[in-house]
Amino acid sequence: MNIEAILDLSRWAPSGDNTQPWRFEVVDPDHVVVHGHDTQDWVVYDIDGHPSHIGLGALLETMSIAASGQGARTEVSRRLDAPADRPTFDVRFIPDPATKSNPLLDSITRRVTQRRPMSTRPLTDDERSALEAAVDPRFRIAWKETPAERKKIAKLLFFSAEIRLTTPEAFTVHQHIIEWNKNQSEDRIPDQAVGLDPMTLKMMRWTLGDWKRVAFMNRFMAGTVMPRITLDYRPALACAGHFWIYDRETPQSTDDYVEAGRAMQRFWLTATELGLFCQPEMTPLIFANYARRNKRFTVVESAWQRALALPDKLERIWGEPVAAQGVWTGRIGAGPAPKARSTRLPLKKLMI
Ligand SMILES: Cc1cc2nc3c(=O)[nH]c(=O)nc-3n(C[C@H](O)[C@H](O)[C@H](O)COP(=O)(O)O)c2cc1C
Repeated sequence: MNIEAILDLSRWAPSGDNTQPWRFEVVDPDHVVVHGHDTQDWVVYDIDGHPSHIGLGALLETMSIAASGQGARTEVSRRLDAPADRPTFDVRFIPDPATKSNPLLDSITRRVTQRRPMSTRPLTDDERSALEAAVDPRFRIAWKETPAERKKIAKLLFFSAEIRLTTPEAFTVHQHIIEWNKNQSEDRIPDQAVGLDPMTLKMMRWTLGDWKRVAFMNRFMAGTVMPRITLDYRPALACAGHFWIYDRETPQSTDDYVEAGRAMQRFWLTATELGLFCQPEMTPLIFANYARRNKRFTVVESAWQRALALPDKLERIWGEPVAAQGVWTGRIGAGPAPKARSTRLPLKKLMI
């Protein structure tokens, strides 16, 4: 078995802001330890670690799909004695003649985040069924696809994006995760994949140079309106629809979110196999959970008040109890493919 080839494919799993919160230790030719970590010490979107857990779930699912290409199945166990912020997994590869190559294998490196407008061609029933089957049996999907429904989501995202753009906690993350003048980035998001036109991007780069500039733009220049229209409102209309993947009950534990990440990756790879693109729209879900759990993630009172309004708004869109059971949400649609993308750290930098 070629473990290196499996890990080399697995590193293409998605992670929040391309943080790749995993390192690999090869213990035996058929045994890898995945040393995970969360990014709560610097990422305001990850203060409960759950987005990192979702990324780790996506990684484990990708390992399993990659191993199927070599006729092996995986057995995964999480080390219960590892610190909470360092989820650690033993992954064993077991050669098994009954294991067939997973049809999602070819989609692992082709899956990509599309943050620009997509086609509004509606999903076919077959596409929707294939996507629903990909997350079954534990998870279910709710859809919002009509123009009126997409407009409702667009308004919600426009409302929520104000939080992202007016808090110093999010500002420092954005400063860190964008790599400028690039269409590829190994460990961040290249500016050209953010979804802005060159002029607005220039403006954003200047603004992100100093928090005082953000405060000035927001106060006197209605600074959040343009980016919210370009990054949130317009793309939310320009797609086939929005999906909400939810658990049977309100998810709580690390394992719940790891399982969610595994299902999310099957969903996203299935979309890729169908020739569809996705963009996660996770921040309203994340901020709503902070509000429900009373996690004050910002010093800005108006942003906190906005977050407190989100659980109710999400309930009005997705219904109750489904809104509180959400683990993954985003938009989906047919091409075109993005021209810029995040790549990954080389395998040798991920090995310990
Ligand atoms: C938990 C999680 C949350 C994410 N949230 C968002 C999001 O809210 N908006 C967005 O555009 N991308 C989001 N992403 C996508 C990542 O930024 C993306 O997967 C990463 O930068 C790697 O790029 P790639 O998917 O193009 O390979 C999220 C990914 C994960 C795993």
